[in-house]
Amino acid sequence: MTNEDGKRRAARAAMRFVEPGMIIGVGTGSTVAHFIDALGERRGDIEAAVSSSEQSTRLLRQRGIEVVDLNATGELALYVDGADECDPQRCLIKGGGAALTREKIIAAASRQFVCIIDPGKRVDVLGRFPLPVEVIPMARSHVARQLVLLGGQPVWRDGVTTDNGNWILDVHNLRITDPPALESAINQIVGVVTVGLFAARRADIVLTGEAD
Ligand code: 5RP
Repeated sequence: MTNEDGKRRAARAAMRFVEPGMIIGVGTGSTVAHFIDALGERRGDIEAAVSSSEQSTRLLRQRGIEVVDLNATGELALYVDGADECDPQRCLIKGGGAALTREKIIAAASRQFVCIIDPGKRVDVLGRFPLPVEVIPMARSHVARQLVLLGGQPVWRDGVTTDNGNWILDVHNLRITDPPALESAINQIVGVVTVGLFAARRADIVLTGEAD
């Protein structure tokens, strides 16, 4: 089975959580693109979606799904999103697609977070994938110095501006043995908008797209 097959299977499996009349929170990325394809097949069945990125908004609209503002919906019943890494406690690294801030907001505003990944993204300890941190542009160097003090090697994702007009630092060489503690520590750095560590609000369910 290729990674792409795993992504497609996980995305299709998430459809079992979709109920008629729902407004669904939708993440970002290539796995979510498969989920949006599947949602499109049931577009008459769901009410609308809340999107985590301009990219997903475009895909949703192309498939005839209405996109609504999170401020107009109240709490969502379901959020479906991918991840870059997932540990056995369902803590995640996210933000490879630079959509981490809106993703974290929708995850926080949802009762159930279903994460869809290919099996290769399961790890025992998070950190092999560089941890994305969204920063206010003028704070980039300051935040980078603080991340070094926390033991990481931040690299500016040059040329990338997020949907919120900010920049991304990818932090290499972290071995994240206590995800909630590191999430909290990075959140404290002035100039950080969001860290792509999803531990305080982690996934409720992880679908890995394996045969069973
Ligand atoms: C975007 C994300 C994605 O969920 C993550 O990068 C996984 O992407 P893909 O499904 O393409 O592997 O966090 O910010």
